[in-house]
Amino acid sequence: MSDLVQLTKDGDVAIITINNPPVNALSPGVPQGISEAVEQIGKDDSVRAAVLIGGGRTFVAGADIKEFGKLASGRSPRGAGLLPLLLQIEDCRKPIVMTIHGTAFGGGLELAMAGHYRVAAPGALVGQPEVKLGIIPGAAGTQRLPRLVGVAKAVEMCAEGNPVRAEDAAKLGIIDRIIEGDLLAGAVRFAREIAARPAPKTRERAGNLGTPEQSAPIFAAARESVRKKQRGMMAPLAAIDAVEAATKMSFEDGCLEEQRLFIDCLQSDQSKALIHVFFGEREVAKIPDVPKETPTIPVNSVAVIGAGTMGGGIAMVFANAGITVLLKESDQPALDRGMANIQKNYASSVKRGRFTQQFVDERLKLIRPTLQYDGFEKADMVVEAVFEGMALKKQVFAELDRICKPGAILASNTSTLDIDEIASATSRPEFVIGTHFFSPANIMRLLEIVRGKKTSKPVIATCMQLSKKIGKIGVLVGNCRGFVGNRMFGPYVRESVFLVEEGTSVAAVDKALSEFGMAMGPLAVGDLSGLDVGWRVRKEYRHLEKPGVRQAMAGDRLCEMGRYGQKTGAGWYKYDENRRASPDPEVAALVRQWAAEAGIPQRQIPADEIVDRCVYALVNEGARILEEGYALRAVDIDIIYLNGYGFPAYRGGPMWFADTVGLKKVYDRVCDFHRQHGEHWEPAPLLRQLAEQSGTFAGFNREHGATA
Ligand code: 3HC
Ligand code: NAI
Repeated sequence: MSDLVQLTKDGDVAIITINNPPVNALSPGVPQGISEAVEQIGKDDSVRAAVLIGGGRTFVAGADIKEFGKLASGRSPRGAGLLPLLLQIEDCRKPIVMTIHGTAFGGGLELAMAGHYRVAAPGALVGQPEVKLGIIPGAAGTQRLPRLVGVAKAVEMCAEGNPVRAEDAAKLGIIDRIIEGDLLAGAVRFAREIAARPAPKTRERAGNLGTPEQSAPIFAAARESVRKKQRGMMAPLAAIDAVEAATKMSFEDGCLEEQRLFIDCLQSDQSKALIHVFFGEREVAKIPDVPKETPTIPVNSVAVIGAGTMGGGIAMVFANAGITVLLKESDQPALDRGMANIQKNYASSVKRGRFTQQFVDERLKLIRPTLQYDGFEKADMVVEAVFEGMALKKQVFAELDRICKPGAILASNTSTLDIDEIASATSRPEFVIGTHFFSPANIMRLLEIVRGKKTSKPVIATCMQLSKKIGKIGVLVGNCRGFVGNRMFGPYVRESVFLVEEGTSVAAVDKALSEFGMAMGPLAVGDLSGLDVGWRVRKEYRHLEKPGVRQAMAGDRLCEMGRYGQKTGAGWYKYDENRRASPDPEVAALVRQWAAEAGIPQRQIPADEIVDRCVYALVNEGARILEEGYALRAVDIDIIYLNGYGFPAYRGGPMWFADTVGLKKVYDRVCDFHRQHGEHWEPAPLLRQLAEQSGTFAGFNREHGATA
């Protein structure tokens, strides 16, 4: 038998243990091992029932995603190749009790559903998350799940991909018993209890499937929901089709239909992109010169300076993770405002069912408002979130240097300023780092961790580890203006404004990018976060602009008129009292007038050109960042854009998207724009080089490693 699967016995109960760390994925060898074990159990007269369990931290977390490349190219058995094994298990004459702890995801849940009974540890999770990888269940999940839980729940689980806790799964009919205490011992006891009963086969339970007439509205509503909530994604629609097949076909034909849809999805660009994202999210945690063994600093108490938009959200993030927070402001009204905002935010989370009142009460107790530095000497980490201005930041860091204990991490939430210069105000630059949260800080998943020249490795390792603990995805970036995300965002926004100045309507620019998949168009985003933010930054750096090079003007002119966006009721759009946007003819007329004064020719610009201009502006700047070493790998840039800027995950991020289009094609288009629009579009040398070598950004990582 494969050494990934062991067969042992506890009296008359056989125990099959899968040992394929870290997550017991169904890698080659595992299905074969299970199959051999089931065969032996069938032949062994001393065995009355069996338990199948995962060794280590989890049951089976799914098929082996690393194998999907082979599956997609047809180098592996048709579909996920697990169907015969699952039929063999289901047809075994001795009941098999699937025993779940940790997660039974994807192929793991499909395996469990082929068993005759399922028991679980409290808090275990089950789910069909395949759509998050751009595929659908490929081992009869869409056929067995509706037979267990009914059509509506099966559609929801397969199309949305969210996990269900064992306690809820028990109510739904997926789990037969929750086992408190020793899971294996409890499962063996359960197996003895049911050993004499007939072994029920999930595939033969038709009672929950309902009639096509009953199910039709469920499918219609699910498709509508996908179009709204999973805009642009193919797999959720395919998952619904597959569950629908379960209601209209025999189990065998339903499985064939599922296989067809599974393979279609697996071969799609969307699934390749989403699998890239899955591994990318894990890859960003790996920093070549800061190995896993790097010592870290325990962070049990944090102090935050500034209780404004960001500081308040950051305080909530730490409190939500159970970390005590001192929140300091400069005066009482600002502190009261900050605490009131935190309370309002929590209250709305309770209202929306995200948190319970008890959870919120506990979190609020962890946040201690203050006007003094008292208590800062005990903090393991301080996050500064005061106004953006170098002089103020340096003053704050000099104070922190005097007050904080040796070894405390001193972090700045600056979005543009030089971390090394901030660090120079202290006597301990090795403990200074950037932790760039995104707004709203308690919601957005991205945390750019900015490495200064002298930042020590334990400080970096601690912040990377901490990001996971506080529910963020930490990406290490180098210290350049705007770091990675905002540095790329500049050219992206510039192009969107240029397009408006060249005659495209505000709504048309946003629509084209939103149809490309961006969560929001760039101009609507500007209105949401405040046009004045970028305006202030541009004014500060105006002296760096080259004379004679065209600069975007319309956004700044709107700011000069007091149109800052949603907060002033008008920006690119006008807003009603409920902050609902509508196009503003006044803006269109003004921009036309400004363009005429500046001699900018007007023309109709098609949607594909809008998208190319904006997205390739991201890619070209991303290429420079990569070449200059401010991002470790192209995937780091992708993860930043997916989690901080609303880039569609099913396109994999800007760099992956460019690879998918083909860098030669992207480069040629950038060259066209360079000829038409001048030096903003000078192709990044790395883009040119990779285009000439038929290379990819992803390949550049592998060949060159990284220096940031
Ligand atoms: N295949 C291959 N590798 C996997 C994997 C899988 N299904 N699931 C996790 N891994 C790897 C990760 O890449 C990571 O590798 P690394 O250490 O080299 O970076 C390692 O296992 C540990 O994973 P995490 O860091 O994610 O560990 P966590 O404890 O944070 O999370 C988890 C565990 C919740 C199981 C999470 O890994 C997860 O969600 N995995 C994916 C689950 C999934 O999508 N399953 C469905 C797969 S598709 C399928 O089953 C098709 C079927 O229908 C035929
Ligand atoms: P804000 O203006 O909402 O809040 C700043 C707060 O700091 C104010 O409440 C002010 O009273 C307080 N403050 C000023 N000096 C202080 C001092 N010496 N001690 C204690 N408190 C002091 O600003 P916001 O938006 O929260 O920005 C804070 C930082 O976060 C800036 O560096 C900004 O660039 C950065 N940032 C902002 C983002 C945003 O979207 N607003 C996103 C990411 C980073």
